[in-house]
Amino acid sequence: MKIAIPRETAARETRVAATPETVKKYVAAGHAVVVQSGAGVESAIPDAAFVEAGATIAADYAATVGGADVVLKVRAPAADEIGALKEGAAVIALCDPYRNPLLADYAARRLDVYAMEQVPRTTRAQAMDVLSSQANIAGYKAVLLATEFYPRFMPMMMTAAGTVKPARVLILGAGVAGLQAIATAKRLGAVVEAFDVRPAAKEQVESLGGKFVEVPLNDEEKKQAETAGGYAREMSEDYKQRQAALVDKHARAADIVITTALIPGRPAPVLIQPETVAGMKPGAVLVDLAVENGGNCPLSRLNEVVTTDGGVKLVGYGNLAGLVAADASSLYARNLLNFTALILDKDKGYVVNRDDDIVAASLVTHGGEVLFGKPKAA
Ligand code: NAI
Repeated sequence: MKIAIPRETAARETRVAATPETVKKYVAAGHAVVVQSGAGVESAIPDAAFVEAGATIAADYAATVGGADVVLKVRAPAADEIGALKEGAAVIALCDPYRNPLLADYAARRLDVYAMEQVPRTTRAQAMDVLSSQANIAGYKAVLLATEFYPRFMPMMMTAAGTVKPARVLILGAGVAGLQAIATAKRLGAVVEAFDVRPAAKEQVESLGGKFVEVPLNDEEKKQAETAGGYAREMSEDYKQRQAALVDKHARAADIVITTALIPGRPAPVLIQPETVAGMKPGAVLVDLAVENGGNCPLSRLNEVVTTDGGVKLVGYGNLAGLVAADASSLYARNLLNFTALILDKDKGYVVNRDDDIVAASLVTHGGEVLFGKPKAA
């Protein structure tokens, strides 16, 4: 099989879908790997390292993907990248399927597009879970970014010139990114509080040394807060009001707020209202990790740092994992290597095994059809 790794073209995309480590494994399994020149540069991987691992280098996109059976990408192909792909090729990438306007175009080219975000959050799929591997990095980087804009120390400091108080960090959303943000802020010596709609998050927050901010839930709400798959659900208006009042109080007392709340397939919930930002301390920093999904704060701006009249900085950088490109690529590439084990058979080559729940959940176009959003066959 020919496996292609093109250079990413999306703005601010610094990651690459394979590393010398994974290339070696594809080559050892008998595949021919072609990497587009420069694909790894921003992840600290020169072409020579790919060659040493057994890949060949192609000068441009068309030469890289031409005739390839499997194309490994970080972002789904852009409109002008579809035509060069072989009909029937498998493309594995982050596809943003709820918002990607090109699914019908992929289907028209008869591509088998696999959206890595759709891989189920099950134990068997853990090693392919790109949402976790990348959110973990984003949570870490969010804290470091906050420290760059925060005009004070994170830890408590006792000096001859007096004592400095530790920073108070509030993390909203204690999923994968939020938990890593708690751990990172704790390591830097901050006092950390966190909040999540899923009651199950309490124990995890506390095990990392954070204090869980709790909105009291009635029995009905407890059942409603989490889906069977472990994701958050949209909550009732009454709950949202109680939550807003509590978040407002804690955000005003915080020095740094990091928001990570997402609901799959929906705009991110608004957790920090403009009135709350107006009440935050001068010098406080808010890092909005949900900014690409509309933001947890309506004042955040994608890829910008906004300073309010009250001296609060709102950091809205997208793709935080891409700011730690070498490690982000390395983990993403391993996720893809593990995923390809489901579709690359030693004897038969590329196979579409739709009986496999991970394949069935992630395959968004196949056989000229858009499968995403269609009810799954019983
Ligand atoms: P996510 O990225 O979809 O959302 C981030 C966090 O925001 C979640 O914890 C969510 O509960 C929270 N959130 C949503 N709306 C909120 C609101 N209005 N206020 C406060 N918080 C809100 O979540 P992520 O990090 O992808 O994790 C989702 C679930 O998947 C979790 O239960 C996690 O434990 C589980 N998971 C399971 C894995 C496995 O078993 N293989 C692997 C990774 C995650």
